[in-house]
Amino acid sequence: MERRAFVKGLAAVTAAVQLLPELAEGVGERLQTLATDIDATTGETDLWRRVRKEFQLNPGLVHFNTGSVGASPRVVSDAIANYINQLEGDPNHNVWGPVGDKAEEVRSRAAEFVGADVSEMVITRNTTEGMNQIASGIDLEPGDEVLTTNHEHGGGVCCWEYLQKHRGVRVNYMKMPNPVRDKAEFLRVFEQHLTPRTRVVSLMHIDTITGMVYPLADVAKITRPRGILLVCDGAHAPGMLNVNLKELGVDAFASSSHKWMLAPKGSGLLYIRREVQDRIHPMSLYSGYSVYSASMGTRNVAHIIGHGVAMDFHNTLGRDRVEARCRQLSNRLRSHLLQIPRLQLLTPTQPELSSGLVTFSVDGMPREEITRQLFDDHNIIVKNAQGTYAFATDPEQKAKAESYNCLRFSTHIFNNEHEVDRLATHIEDILG
Ligand SMILES: Cc1ncc(COP(=O)(O)O)c(C=O)c1O
Repeated sequence: MERRAFVKGLAAVTAAVQLLPELAEGVGERLQTLATDIDATTGETDLWRRVRKEFQLNPGLVHFNTGSVGASPRVVSDAIANYINQLEGDPNHNVWGPVGDKAEEVRSRAAEFVGADVSEMVITRNTTEGMNQIASGIDLEPGDEVLTTNHEHGGGVCCWEYLQKHRGVRVNYMKMPNPVRDKAEFLRVFEQHLTPRTRVVSLMHIDTITGMVYPLADVAKITRPRGILLVCDGAHAPGMLNVNLKELGVDAFASSSHKWMLAPKGSGLLYIRREVQDRIHPMSLYSGYSVYSASMGTRNVAHIIGHGVAMDFHNTLGRDRVEARCRQLSNRLRSHLLQIPRLQLLTPTQPELSSGLVTFSVDGMPREEITRQLFDDHNIIVKNAQGTYAFATDPEQKAKAESYNCLRFSTHIFNNEHEVDRLATHIEDILG
């Protein structure tokens, strides 16, 4: 009897172990082929043409809205499909065995991706979830203050509004200069908003309206000596900028990998700096930061593995190279659009405050009309940038909301010069 149980147990383990090479389903080989092909390309145009082949966007569709949601390369979606299908052959042994272990490995890859330690990394579903976890894990008293801006996305500000409504915390909103002229101007306005009760500063890494990159390292030099926690809504950064969280100096950071990292939809990262983990202690992380834990529960492991493959994809191309390409296309678009008199640039002009997200306000035509014509007539997707206090629930803030008549453009590695030039020409035509 005992022997039979042993043989049965052994068979199960063998089956699970045998599954592993099959599960890998050629991801490594496919990325290796991509790397070899890239090495053999004969210049930038050739290189990005080769990279573009990895994507599965509908023919003719031009996607300039990675800031909302990116396009995953086929190697990512294939990996998820394969892992899901194979996992179901023996869910029990896979979720708690080899597939679950592979999902857990994604945490170390994530730590490497953003310049953190694995003990500081959590795999989440999106920025909003990460920000909620951060806010729920800070012991704030009634009257304590959180300083944020009037540009926040709901995913970065609802958590603070909740604490205001239910815990008596006060949320202060800094009115962003528009556009910000330089770093010194931003830091001056920022410091003016700090009070003796400020316990948390919550800023975006990249502004969801204007695409401005916040000077977080300079902000951290102000907040850290005062014991203020610097929390960052980094929704747009990983996968667009080559992020190093240690250099940024933030205490906590939440991001959405389904945007610029081109990961499966519903993938995010959360970082909590080791030195402040006693001050930021969300309930969900009570049992640790692992993908599975008693306080986090069972996860979609196949999907998390796909998240890791998206990181491998970026690493195969080179994170600096990806950042340079996003910026290069953004700058090209920027210089075209600057020639159109009815458009005004809202993104700062300095490279250190700029990114692959660029925004222009439009004079004399509703932005909805432009985005509609671009899509209906040319199959081009761009985003209407939100206004200030866009997600406010408090009547006092709602009253201050301004609707910017703006268009926001995201340029990623699946875009190219021809698409950028065509977009600019169509906008010029639409605006007459
Ligand atoms: C700055 C910022 N924060 C948070 C979010 C919300 O992202 P998610 O829905 O992935 O949580 C967005 C979405 O566009 C955003 O731009």
